[in-house]
Amino acid sequence: MSKISVKNPLVNMNGDEMARVIWDKIQNEIILPHIDLNLINYDLSIKSRDETNDKITTEAARQINKVKVGVKCATITPDEKRVKEYKLKKKYPSPNGTIRNILKGTIFREPIIINKIPKIVNHWNQPVIIARHAFGDIYRSKEISVKKKGKLTICFEDEEGNKEEKLIHDFDSSGVGLAYFNVNDSIYDFANSCFNYALIRNLPLFLSTKNTILQKYDEAFKEIFDEVYKKFQIRFEENNLTYQHRLIDDMVACLMKWSGGFLWACKNYDGDVMSDLVAQGFGSLGLMSSVLQSPDGKILKTEAAHGTVTSHYRQHQNGIQTSTNPIASIFAWSKALKHRGELDSNLDLNKFAQNLETICINTLNEGYMTKDLALMCGPEQKWVTTNEFFEIIKHKVEN
Ligand SMILES: NC(=O)c1ccc[n+]([C@@H]2O[C@H](COP(=O)([O-])OP(=O)(O)OC[C@H]3O[C@@H](n4cnc5c(N)ncnc54)[C@H](O)[C@@H]3O)[C@@H](O)[C@H]2O)c1
Repeated sequence: MSKISVKNPLVNMNGDEMARVIWDKIQNEIILPHIDLNLINYDLSIKSRDETNDKITTEAARQINKVKVGVKCATITPDEKRVKEYKLKKKYPSPNGTIRNILKGTIFREPIIINKIPKIVNHWNQPVIIARHAFGDIYRSKEISVKKKGKLTICFEDEEGNKEEKLIHDFDSSGVGLAYFNVNDSIYDFANSCFNYALIRNLPLFLSTKNTILQKYDEAFKEIFDEVYKKFQIRFEENNLTYQHRLIDDMVACLMKWSGGFLWACKNYDGDVMSDLVAQGFGSLGLMSSVLQSPDGKILKTEAAHGTVTSHYRQHQNGIQTSTNPIASIFAWSKALKHRGELDSNLDLNKFAQNLETICINTLNEGYMTKDLALMCGPEQKWVTTNEFFEIIKHKVEN
């Protein structure tokens, strides 16, 4: 069979540990034998980031900006233990954070739903996609520990030196305080990303806030989304899609009542918490995909939502066969190829990517799966090793 040729390049970012072992297999055994693809490769492993003082991450992000599609393997975000383990020059920031800051995009996390795999929340039979506004709020806050009696205030001073000051609390005993912020440009980017993604995925969009309490802070999110929606309203109506703002407490109740099938725009902390809740409700991290999309919807970086699966890597290093789930990483590739295919109007590429996803879903439904998923199905369910699973997928793609 002749290979599918692809005109424009794709940025391929390799990573660490077991995720890297899987990555190489996907690339060399499933993708490259069938597609003539110009990959621009960046090694984002922790060693390579250390050797380049992390410049490689910035270069990769800039390259994604140019070619518009990137696919990324999971990488180690070093903590103190990793700094020692790899003798690193410093504790580098998360590569995902660096790339996100350069692309200014929004992360959308989506479960891959497989009928055979039981879900913890049984009636979620369509995906719930969480869009997290990964900027500001408590993640960029300043905290204070109050030890004595006294006043805590918040003050804004403009460039001319004019001040607006508000009393937060008049302490008569010890306590704690906190201040945080957001910027409208980032909220506009978030809103544009979400409306574009809802159209691409043909899903209704909900924004949640607590604007009854935060009448300036959270209200700013609601107002900006309302304003941006005006630009999208006609296209939403043409596609029978809706946009609604709801209170976070109401939205959480709806999440439990509904069967899925919507895109949920969350503020930073809500998105942090809800994406893990939704991942668990749908079953497994090994079935959770993640895409970072630019506000205009044109640039896409895809990855699996899980990490480098360190415990499996330790087994692999000791020559023990693992049973590591490659589905989310394969979907990272298929989603990146689909985006390349759409940008280049390459129908053959889109067909290949769609077929790859169908093969994965069918294989799991036929009962061939890795241990993480088998455990969810029950004690009777058999599981295969990583290599055996790859052989099955490889064989089906070849035929
Ligand atoms: N996007 C990313 O690059 C990313 C995300 C999270 C964590 N990390 C990094 O990954 C490393 C390990 O972190 P962690 O252990 O918290 O997260 P992890 O996702 O690697 O593992 C969490 C748990 O889920 C299981 N698991 C995850 N993916 C699996 C798969 N595909 N198949 C079978 N089981 C799977 C693991 O065995 C483990 O029990 C850390 O160094 C962290 O910095 C990277």
